[in-house]
This record gives sequence, structure tokens and C-alpha cells, in this order.
Amino acid sequence: MREAFTVAIDGPAAAGKGTIARAVAAELGFPHLDSGLLYRAVGARLLEGEDPVAAARSLNTAELDEHALRTAAVAQAASKVAVLPEVRAALLDFQRAFARRAGGAVLDGRDIGTVICPEAEVKLFVTASPECRAERRTAELRARGAEVDAAEVLQDVLARDARDRDRAASPLRQAPDAVVLDTTSLTIEAAIAAALDAVRAARPSVP
Ligand code: CDP
Repeated sequence: MREAFTVAIDGPAAAGKGTIARAVAAELGFPHLDSGLLYRAVGARLLEGEDPVAAARSLNTAELDEHALRTAAVAQAASKVAVLPEVRAALLDFQRAFARRAGGAVLDGRDIGTVICPEAEVKLFVTASPECRAERRTAELRARGAEVDAAEVLQDVLARDARDRDRAASPLRQAPDAVVLDTTSLTIEAAIAAALDAVRAARPSVP
């Protein structure tokens, strides 16, 4: 039987986790789960007036409309529903099963290496200065056609970071055994190469 091999990538908002996770997953041929999309989907349903706990319990993880979920309003709503232990509990089993599937998996989020899969073979904590993260998120949202103000994006990122770090349920924390990747002055190619180095250190058979 093919064994589990989990690459857990955590870090604050817009640090580059998603881009690195997608590239690492493609390189290894592993499936990738962006766990933030689960919280964004619940946040979107809160904005539609639904109870977030009921929304989390009935979430269809196979039908997440990534494009519609990548807005600043949904991101803020996601970080509000993410403080609720019942919401987190409803999303736990799906993430855990994904992490430990046979053959390996890459997951990114806030609590993958600390709560969802503390036994992950590779843990990365991806970070960057708040200004750099806000700049990248502003460019990303503009590329999607949104009209956003850079100063407001920075305020959004800082508010979300504070909520994610200060909550009681699975707060954003660096796992003690995580490799820290500060991408502030790295190109995306260099960040991906550093992430793959950490994977190879844990599994030398990766080409
Ligand atoms: O892409 P970005 O880093 O801006 O955010 P995201 O990963 O899509 O996550 C949106 C929000 O969901 C975060 O601000 C967290 O509040 C929450 N989240 C979480 O609590 N736990 C996770 N594993 C992933 C996301």
C-alpha cells in the first residue's frame, strides 16, 4: 500500500502559501487542499445570512467556487467564522483524511501542522512582512478585476492576522518543528525551490 506523506504549509494571510503549495503538489504529483477555501465557503454562506455552524456541517467540499470565494469581503467573513470551535470541528475530519490519504498530500492553511496533522512529514511556516503581503494581495485582487485600495488591503490583512493569531480555537502558530520560509525578499521561484529542499530533506527519494 502506498504510504501517507503530508506536506503541511501554514502561515499568515497572503504570504504565498497557496502558490508554493500548488507548485510543490504539482512537482510531487500529490493532490492539494487549500483549507482556506473551506473557511471562505462558510464565510460566504454567513454573508448570505446562513448560520455558520450549519453551513460548515453541510458544506459540499467537492463544489467550492474558488473564483467567487477570493474576495476581500469573503476573506474577512472567513476569519470570523474560523474562530468558532464548532465550525472548525465540522471541517476537521475531511482535512485529516485528505492529509493522510495514501500516496501523499499537500495542504495549506493556518493549523495544518499544529492541529490537523501534527504528524506531517514536512511542515513549512511561510511568512513575509505585512506590507509585502498586502502588496501581493492588492496585485492579485486587481488582476482578478477588483477595484481595491492598497491601504485598505493592508488593514484587512492586519485585522485578519490579529483575529487568526488571537483566537482560542486552533490559533495561527508556527509548529516547533516547522521550517520557516520568509518570502519577503524571495522570488516565487526561490521560495518554491526552498520548499522543495525541505521536502527532499524529509524524503530523499524525491527527484
Ligand atoms: O489566502 P489567504 O492566506 O489570504 O487566506 P485563506 O488561506 O484563504 O484563509 C481565509 C481565512 O480562513 C483565514 O484568515 C483564517 O481565518 C481561516 N483559516 C483558518 O482558520 N484555518 C485554516 N486552516 C485556513 C484558513
